[in-house]
Amino acid sequence: MFKENFYWGASTSGFQVEGGFGLGGKGVASTDVRVVPEGIADSKIASDHFHHFLEDIDLMSELGINLYRFSFNWTRVMGEGREANLEGIKFYNQIIDKCLEKGITPFPTLYHFEMPQSFIEEFGGWQSRECVDQFVKYAEVCFNHFGDRVKMWGTINEQMIVSAASDLNGNHEPNQELKMKKMYQMSYNMSLAEKKAIQIFRKIVKDGQIGPVCSMQVVYPESPSPENILAAKNAEDFLQNCFLDMSVNGTYPLSYTNYLNKKGWYPEVEPEDNQILTENKPDLIGINYYCSTCIRAKNDSDNDSKLPPFYRNEMFTLGNNPFLTKTKWMEFGIDPEGLYIGMRSIYEKYNLPMIVTENGLAYSDILEEGQIHDDYRIDYLEQHIAQCERFIDEGYPLLGYSPWSFIDVVSSHQGFGKRYGLVYVDRTDADVKECKRIPKDSFYWYQDKIKKNKKG
Ligand code: BG6
Repeated sequence: MFKENFYWGASTSGFQVEGGFGLGGKGVASTDVRVVPEGIADSKIASDHFHHFLEDIDLMSELGINLYRFSFNWTRVMGEGREANLEGIKFYNQIIDKCLEKGITPFPTLYHFEMPQSFIEEFGGWQSRECVDQFVKYAEVCFNHFGDRVKMWGTINEQMIVSAASDLNGNHEPNQELKMKKMYQMSYNMSLAEKKAIQIFRKIVKDGQIGPVCSMQVVYPESPSPENILAAKNAEDFLQNCFLDMSVNGTYPLSYTNYLNKKGWYPEVEPEDNQILTENKPDLIGINYYCSTCIRAKNDSDNDSKLPPFYRNEMFTLGNNPFLTKTKWMEFGIDPEGLYIGMRSIYEKYNLPMIVTENGLAYSDILEEGQIHDDYRIDYLEQHIAQCERFIDEGYPLLGYSPWSFIDVVSSHQGFGKRYGLVYVDRTDADVKECKRIPKDSFYWYQDKIKKNKKG
């Protein structure tokens, strides 16, 4: 059973929802300049939350949520990067205050895929420790300006994705070996930045909670053969433990350290880093979960050049799980029980409370006579919420559930053809129209779910 103080939320991220490109002193972000495929929407207007945020928070209130998980755009808070942008701070103050007025706890993440493009051009972004200092400066501005009212914070959203995706982080190194080395250095620098930000957070937001938001990896071996079991174990270390072990304990799994040393990819570190990494522990872990991952041992004939960099190694590759239902946009398959399995593992390993920060179903929704009948999404959410309830009933600490996404947002790579929202945004990739908000059937279903559960 969900307790009275359970957070029923909904989620977005700054660059995917906000738009307002070049407005209100916003600097140019990596996500503004990346090249999106022809005909796919970019984030310059996105869902135009920049102009609709008051109406959007009214809709959140109508939905009945008591938590809004969003992210600050680094370039709205810090302009081109180095100086605080007071207009941007005012914008987020309006969002925070309006949320609080409606009884909605604001839960921002500092870094959700978007960063000042100037940093990428000047010093290679996260490749340089200069970026660590700049991130800490940005975090400090946020804690100082918002920390009196904002008590729940995310640090980095999905470090696995953002350290690998060149279009987000600017790692366009043509030499593939060197590109991998840089990726691991960037990831290390992000970890260091996260820890230094937590260190400052403790001084400024004394009564707050902060933690990483992970892309939870629920890794299944494709078969019980020892080589596939080992492949799955290695995958866990390289897809999840290397990030969370670092976030929580300030260490890397030994298999990861050994492999990076063998390849000559182990990041450059400074002697004083270790203390910072090990001392500044988070309070919670944000869980992003869409589906589980099936892994098998690598064969010599496998070509992984088209896979994301985190799957490119000699140890493991993607397998196929025949037990799950797959759809066009959920190609790994739908696996509600995976949410329970994954959170259990994370709790046993790290002993920290969790909050589901993203979970949802992608679909190319069709507007029919002004309505969206998304029973497929209701079904997905219902099954995943049931797994959260099971988790809580067994005594595990889950603080809340915040599905992706509150409204339709521009997908991280596939524009508006792929939607997750509880609220439809009436625009297409090619035609922005007026971005009218239309609650989907899932909105009313979730509203009812919250209402019933709040009554206990
Ligand atoms: C998560 C991200 O990886 O998944 C979100 O935190 C993203 O930013 C979401 O939108 C869904 O992925 P996609 O690629 O379908 O937008």
